[in-house]
Amino acid sequence: MKNALAVLLISISLLSTVGPAFAQEDALAEPRSATLNEAFEGCFLVGTAMNRWFIMDEVPGVLDFASSQFNAVTAENAMKWGRINPSKGDYHFDISDALVDYAQANEMKVIGHTLVWHSQTPDWVFENWRGRPVDRDTLLARLENHMEKVAGRYSGRIHGWDVLNEAILDDGSWRDSPWRRILGEDYVATVFEMAHRIDPQAELYYNDYNMYLPGKRDAVVTMVKDLQARGVPIHGIGMQGHFGIGRPSMEDFTAALDAYGALGLKVMITEMDVTVLPWPDTLAVGADISAAAENRDELDPYTEGLPADIAEAQAEQYAAFFRELVARRDFVSRVTFWGVSDADNWKNNFPVRGRTDHPMLFDRYLQPKPAFDAVIAEAAPCGTE
Ligand code: G3I
Repeated sequence: MKNALAVLLISISLLSTVGPAFAQEDALAEPRSATLNEAFEGCFLVGTAMNRWFIMDEVPGVLDFASSQFNAVTAENAMKWGRINPSKGDYHFDISDALVDYAQANEMKVIGHTLVWHSQTPDWVFENWRGRPVDRDTLLARLENHMEKVAGRYSGRIHGWDVLNEAILDDGSWRDSPWRRILGEDYVATVFEMAHRIDPQAELYYNDYNMYLPGKRDAVVTMVKDLQARGVPIHGIGMQGHFGIGRPSMEDFTAALDAYGALGLKVMITEMDVTVLPWPDTLAVGADISAAAENRDELDPYTEGLPADIAEAQAEQYAAFFRELVARRDFVSRVTFWGVSDADNWKNNFPVRGRTDHPMLFDRYLQPKPAFDAVIAEAAPCGTE
């Protein structure tokens, strides 16, 4: 068992250029018996995001581990436009097919991520052969073709799609993306209707980061009310959930959950992680992947392991979030972690490359951290109904 875990962590480090594995013997204890999916069964789904090395079973043990803990799975990158269709007519379904097959074999729900995003969409999608922006009809045809190829391929096997990702800025204004510039101000309705036509069984979500900020929250509520008034199909709101210790405030977090819940939609935390590292003071807090700062020693304080007091603070923070989510289990339908373990989570490389973060419930040996126990403890009400 110990050898297998050692291989696992070395493999992760090599393959994904994430932080180093730690070699403490006490981290190699046998896993505990409680599992997230069983603990929260009466409340909501608990999901994970997987990178391609995990999906393709290149890191021994992870697929079995994930299906023992989680009942939903999102491809961290494999279904993004730039990965699945990098150049015109060139589709790569090997990883997404493997993910959908794995999920089906293990009775896990598949979350499709994502159809319309300003980021990770190749330039050719928006351009003609001269490199000039295409017209509305051309872009609509390309989007419809893409949705048919991707959402159509998995129609009936996808639980829900993140149809539209990150369309609103923190202050509540619209993001000036090529999608909006070319398709026009009403493009949100257009893309949701298109997705529904292509996979009528899938739940359709709006997904974004910093969804707790009042400006963004109010704009999302206004957008959804407008869609609902016109009968446009939208079924859920994804709050990504790239959080930190003390961020967001519980007041902002619960106000946002309640505002989205009051719309009558399912509410999900779709990309949860709780970083323990300092945020560079030169950057706005968020998940805008164009943000970057240089590494400095003071920005990377836990390269030798997570100190007990910080692990405890993180556990309390996770517990506080889950307490509020469990209290709203009538409309909270899923919590997905953005990764499996501390080793593979993207925060090791964002917004500073090459740091050693510890944002997840499982450490670099897939062993449960204090945050795992704290989260499981919050599941008590889930078994009572
Ligand atoms: O796979 C290559 C690898 O071969 C190469 O050696 C390495 C060198 O940099 O890059 C690897 O690709 C990186 C990939 O992550 C896998 O690690 C890409 O450069 C990097 O851009 C990519 O970042 C992803 C990011 O989205 C952009 O697509 C992160 O993994 C992923 O966690 C992140 O996820 C997003 C959600 O989709 C939307 N919400 C925010 C969230 C975090 O940014």
